[in-house]
Amino acid sequence: MKNIAILGATGSIGLNTLDVIARHPDEYSAFAVSAHSNWKSLNELCKKHMPKYAILVDEEAANNLRKLAPKGVEVLSGENALDDIASHVQTDFVMAAIVGGAGMSSTFSAAMAGKRIMLANKESLVLGGALLMNAANKSGAEIIPVDSEHSAIFQCLQAGKEGLNKIQLTASGGPFLNMPFVSLSKVTPEEACNHPNWKMGQKISVDSATMMNKGLEVIEASFLFNLPATHIEVIVHPQSIVHSCVYYDDGSVLSQMGLPDMRSAISYALSFPGRQLSGVEVLDLTKQPPLEFFPPDMKKYKCLELAYQAIKQGGNAPGTLNAANEVAVDAFLKNKISFLDISKIIEKTLNETPTQNLDTLPSVVENDQLSRQLALSLISKND
Ligand SMILES: NC(=O)c1ccc[n+]([C@@H]2O[C@H](COP(=O)([O-])OP(=O)(O)OC[C@H]3O[C@@H](n4cnc5c(N)ncnc54)[C@H](OP(=O)(O)O)[C@@H]3O)[C@@H](O)[C@H]2O)c1
Repeated sequence: MKNIAILGATGSIGLNTLDVIARHPDEYSAFAVSAHSNWKSLNELCKKHMPKYAILVDEEAANNLRKLAPKGVEVLSGENALDDIASHVQTDFVMAAIVGGAGMSSTFSAAMAGKRIMLANKESLVLGGALLMNAANKSGAEIIPVDSEHSAIFQCLQAGKEGLNKIQLTASGGPFLNMPFVSLSKVTPEEACNHPNWKMGQKISVDSATMMNKGLEVIEASFLFNLPATHIEVIVHPQSIVHSCVYYDDGSVLSQMGLPDMRSAISYALSFPGRQLSGVEVLDLTKQPPLEFFPPDMKKYKCLELAYQAIKQGGNAPGTLNAANEVAVDAFLKNKISFLDISKIIEKTLNETPTQNLDTLPSVVENDQLSRQLALSLISKND
């Protein structure tokens, strides 16, 4: 029996994880569940899955849950509680599914404690990629990707890395794939969150619409698979059936396919190196529409270009890009800036932040905070 800590349990990845776990009650138990402040949803999850611990970052929300939580569930609060549970002696696997840079600390805590990290929180790698990979190597922690593209590449690479030529991440192109660039200035948060293939949280949905999500994934892939950005391509594939491809020197291309349902990647991260039922329907290729592939329009998807720029710059640039993106996406969701302003804020923040190497976790955190402040000040000037 493996004890699973599901950090970000009330979100889209968290709920899908609990769904897979519940299908295998003899293999896994939900040891801990967490949320930021959504205590009502967390309480429902507690009643259904009876974890040992429920964590709410927000103190007031935690007090509300303490009054209602089922007997036997201990309610913890604060950010440190996430780190404590991620490294808890009884935790076997950590599902890192908190959204944004807020997930970094607990991911590091799990890495230093040698846990299996099922990594959905790509921002951890974007912010502190080299440090996180080193911490995992040192402790023996396993990092199993949950992003569907990285899970696909991870699965293909079980065939080996010898003769690897390049990897190719597929991108759906998001909800505005067929919209002309000029119309993008008018799109609303609701439209941006209406992804054609995947049901996801708001932040990653906007990231998919700008294609910053793919940019963050290029950075994530570079750290996970130890490849330079020149060996990582992005290709638009609107049907989201081919999840990514690995090209070898002999002309062979391996890819992993499946219906767009995150439970496949989550299930694989749990059962690796084995496989198990996930609840995902088996793909019937005869019933699919024609599968299309084409290169991304870098002018329309400026955020993708900025991500390639950041990884080329190296040092603190990916962290700065991520911080500015989080601030800009939040402002867009609150109708403070337009959709096209997102990339402008990120570009200005990147250009105004000197490049420097970040060798410690506190320096990563400091760069994140300074970049957020700069992006916020640029947004207030934008008013
Ligand atoms: N959704 C997908 O299909 C998908 C696919 C690949 C990768 N990912 C990645 O997986 C991560 C989660 O995405 P999601 O779509 O599941 O997000 P989501 O639906 O927005 O859920 C986010 C979760 O994080 C919690 N949270 C938010 N802010 C927090 C904070 N400051 N401290 C602690 N917890 C916090 C939320 O709690 P509350 O409910 O209390 O707000 C919720 O449980 C992201 O990094 C995303 O890029 C997602």
